[in-house]
Amino acid sequence: MALVDVNQLRVTFGGKTAVSAASFAIEKGETFSLIGESGCGKSTLLRVLAGLQREWHGEVAVLGERLQPGQRFAGPLRRNVQMVFQDPWASLHPNHTISRTLSEPLSIHGETQIAENVADALQQVGLSADAAKRYPHQLSGGQRQRVAIARALLLRPQLLLLDEPTSALDMSVQAEILNLLNRLKAQHGMTYLLVSHDADVIAHMSDRAAFMAHGEIQRVFDREAMLRNEHRMG
Ligand SMILES: Nc1ncnc2c1ncn2[C@@H]1O[C@H](COP(=O)(O)OP(=O)(O)OP(=O)(O)O)[C@@H](O)[C@H]1O
Ligand SMILES: [Mg+2]
Repeated sequence: MALVDVNQLRVTFGGKTAVSAASFAIEKGETFSLIGESGCGKSTLLRVLAGLQREWHGEVAVLGERLQPGQRFAGPLRRNVQMVFQDPWASLHPNHTISRTLSEPLSIHGETQIAENVADALQQVGLSADAAKRYPHQLSGGQRQRVAIARALLLRPQLLLLDEPTSALDMSVQAEILNLLNRLKAQHGMTYLLVSHDADVIAHMSDRAAFMAHGEIQRVFDREAMLRNEHRMG
């Protein structure tokens, strides 16, 4: 069974169509990517799957559960679908320490041994324990994105939605974070939906990649097509 199943998804804002007739499925364990120009609808599509964009039309199933427009995620869905946002500045609370940012999702979901879990999460993403005491502005961009990844992974989600997780970072940090994501995926058996405008990142990470333009999925590339560099033609 597919972990994500999207059929004829459409999202409009006022008169403007952001996502149009998008259909695709993602199998468990896959890294499926979206590539395409700025404004083509990638983030909007991820936000639907994360339960953040609640106005849409079509058929969407996540983790075997059929979503309804307007639905707020709760229970297993909320826990098992996590998103890493394009801009770690916007996604981390500026006045909360990293410790608080990482503790809150655990306590909301009734976890115990919170301090141990936070320490473990920081270690997994390659941050030192004393990062816990700091505020977002006291970290580098790469460190902030690691915190965002740590937070997304704390609850051991089955599906991780990654919206340009490394585009704000320089090349060496970018490579480190991508390798980290691949390692964590193998360790925890996750499924990824990754957005990137970078054809190298797409080729490095993806089992399949969908090319989007003007809200539509125009074509899906498998590994062989990516090895032939077909995903670079646009
Ligand atoms: N909340 C909103 N209200 C109105 N229009 C929106 C909203 N969110 C997105 N849009 C519009 O929908 C279209 C798709 O936006 P989206 O953010 O999904 O693009 P994207 O592919 O993620 O672009 P980028 O690569 O720049 O992040 C754009 O034209 C955008 O202006
Ligand atoms: Mg976007």
